[in-house]
Amino acid sequence: MSALDPAAADLAKRAAAARAVSMVTEGMRVGLGSGSTSAWFTRLLAERMAAEGLRVSAVPTSSGTARLAAELGVPLTRIEAVGRLDLTVDGADEFDPALNLIKGGGAALLQEKIVAAASARLVIIADPVKRVPRLGAFPLPVEVVRFGWPVTRKAIEDALAPLGLAGRRTSVRQGAAGPLVTDEGHHIIDLHLGEIPDVPALAAALTAIPGVVEHGLFVGMADCVILGYPDGTAEVLNRLGVAPRAVIDIDAEMRDEDA
Ligand code: 5RP
Repeated sequence: MSALDPAAADLAKRAAAARAVSMVTEGMRVGLGSGSTSAWFTRLLAERMAAEGLRVSAVPTSSGTARLAAELGVPLTRIEAVGRLDLTVDGADEFDPALNLIKGGGAALLQEKIVAAASARLVIIADPVKRVPRLGAFPLPVEVVRFGWPVTRKAIEDALAPLGLAGRRTSVRQGAAGPLVTDEGHHIIDLHLGEIPDVPALAAALTAIPGVVEHGLFVGMADCVILGYPDGTAEVLNRLGVAPRAVIDIDAEMRDEDA
């Protein structure tokens, strides 16, 4: 889908977040994603807490999300204090028909992946622009340690060739004063791939490179994507047909709750 104007995109993000926030129940341990769509989820969660007295403990996935949640009065805890989470709701930069994702446009992919992996359910909230037939148009973020990062960058470029991605451009994400430094003190190399022929193979190749801390491919992690539309409606896409971690039919669950 071609780009939405900013106002329409914001309505779509809010619609997706509103649907996700209705999944939160009393006492849940909830992972809070990062980015503008996740910010809607945090705001609407705070609204439900204030309006209904709903209590949750939340684990943020970035310093930005932690700040927003604290401002809104959402009680925060550390992931090591809870160990496992019931539900994480996060955004994505792209998702494909298998619900594999590119994340990390906001440079929070490392904490996002740790929190997602510790969650019983990962629900992705997105506007229609994020839906793609194949991942790769959005530059793939790779988080690397600062020590020797140009060497790591070269190793990443070399690893692309056998995967049908020879000669693809890479760039170093910039911050206010030189290469951006993530919440965990690393740099981000963005891979301009166009289209990724074999997502799991690329994920494995990147993980094997010394100096790579994490990459923005989330393979088989999302249990569903909630797609919001500018008219305020939302559609739930469940992950089907690929070895499910915990496939859920949210619509059925919501019907049961309403009954
Ligand atoms: C941050 C992320 C975000 O979820 C992703 O960039 C989507 O952001 P937005 O909701 O603003 O489009 O992965 O690291």
